[in-house]
Amino acid sequence: MNVLGIETSCDETAAAIVNDDGKILSNIVLSQLKTHQVYGGVVPEIAAREHLEHIDKIIAAALKDAGITFEQLDGVAATCGPGLIGGVMIGMMSAKAIASVHNIPFLAINHLEGHALTARLTDKIKFPYLVLLVSGGHTQLLIAQSLGQYHRIGTTLDDAAGECFDKSAKLMGLPYPGGPNIEKIAKECTDQEAAIARFQLPSPMKNKKTCDFSFSGLKTSVRLHIDRLPEGELERSDVAQLSCALEIKIAEILANKSARAINQFKETYGPFESPPGLVVCGGVSANRTIAQQLQNLALENDMTFYAPPLSLSGDNGAMIAWAGLEKLLANGENYPGDPMNFAARPRWPLDPDAAPLHGAEVKA
Ligand code: KG4
Ligand code: ZN
Repeated sequence: MNVLGIETSCDETAAAIVNDDGKILSNIVLSQLKTHQVYGGVVPEIAAREHLEHIDKIIAAALKDAGITFEQLDGVAATCGPGLIGGVMIGMMSAKAIASVHNIPFLAINHLEGHALTARLTDKIKFPYLVLLVSGGHTQLLIAQSLGQYHRIGTTLDDAAGECFDKSAKLMGLPYPGGPNIEKIAKECTDQEAAIARFQLPSPMKNKKTCDFSFSGLKTSVRLHIDRLPEGELERSDVAQLSCALEIKIAEILANKSARAINQFKETYGPFESPPGLVVCGGVSANRTIAQQLQNLALENDMTFYAPPLSLSGDNGAMIAWAGLEKLLANGENYPGDPMNFAARPRWPLDPDAAPLHGAEVKA
């Protein structure tokens, strides 16, 4: 069984073919990074236009790389939300068109579910497991109970972790996207203790007994530190030290709340026959400091740690194709797929029962 997955919810135009053995036959990602870099962030209208321009070629390349034709597809899956609606519409309409022309099921995929299921594609991990989803638009702790069933136990009250990286990078004069650039320059800092002592940063929500996050205060604190530095262009060594302190602080906050979530997960779902999974996913999971901290936490708590390989940590079509495959397999042979009048959703929470938090969940 082969499924085409299409992803266009932010600034990557992506298409991939995955089969029901979990083999990725192709995975094409076209980044719009250079287009948006001059604006310091993603401009939704420009992103949508770029998706429209490239989507056909990217789908053709995914089929060619996989060595198959449209006739050999058993389904076509597309991100239908949450995300920038113009882009989402383009991927979704392309998938609907392919599905109706070739008479195969169309599968409407929640982008967040794509990230959350990646560990099942790469490692065949079993439900239930705990997910820390950290991207540019989301920071959530979720219990993946079964396909389509997610219990959100924590979320951010304001900015997402990736957004904190991106906004702080902008303040330091580093290019978009901030996360990878902060990670890169932080490596130039040779004395972590000195960096932490010099650039002290707050730990918002640390003593709150919930699994919720807050990152906007951290970005403000970065700005105040920068204001106290000599005027003019920042010294590279100062940027390296501040980046190092910020990266360590974000890793600490994520680990601290994940530790709380582990307790809650174990209380509700334990005891387990074998160590359950702790999955970190989304663009920020590419950060080595953060991944290492979470890996240590998993080890201390007798859990198995899973982080996607770099090719699957950012937005991609393979995770969407896999989510589509899971849906097809779960629904049996005669499953017609999702209806053709399925509407794109700018917001689409994975856990519809989770109480909305004031000011939170911009995209979900
Ligand atoms: O999942 P993703 O590709 O797109 C969204 O759905 O948001 O995540 C993008 C986010 C950006 O905020 C980017 O700065 C962050 O992931 N990111 C990183 C790293 N690589 C990407 N953050 C920290 N360290 C990294 N190495
Ligand atoms: Zn994403």
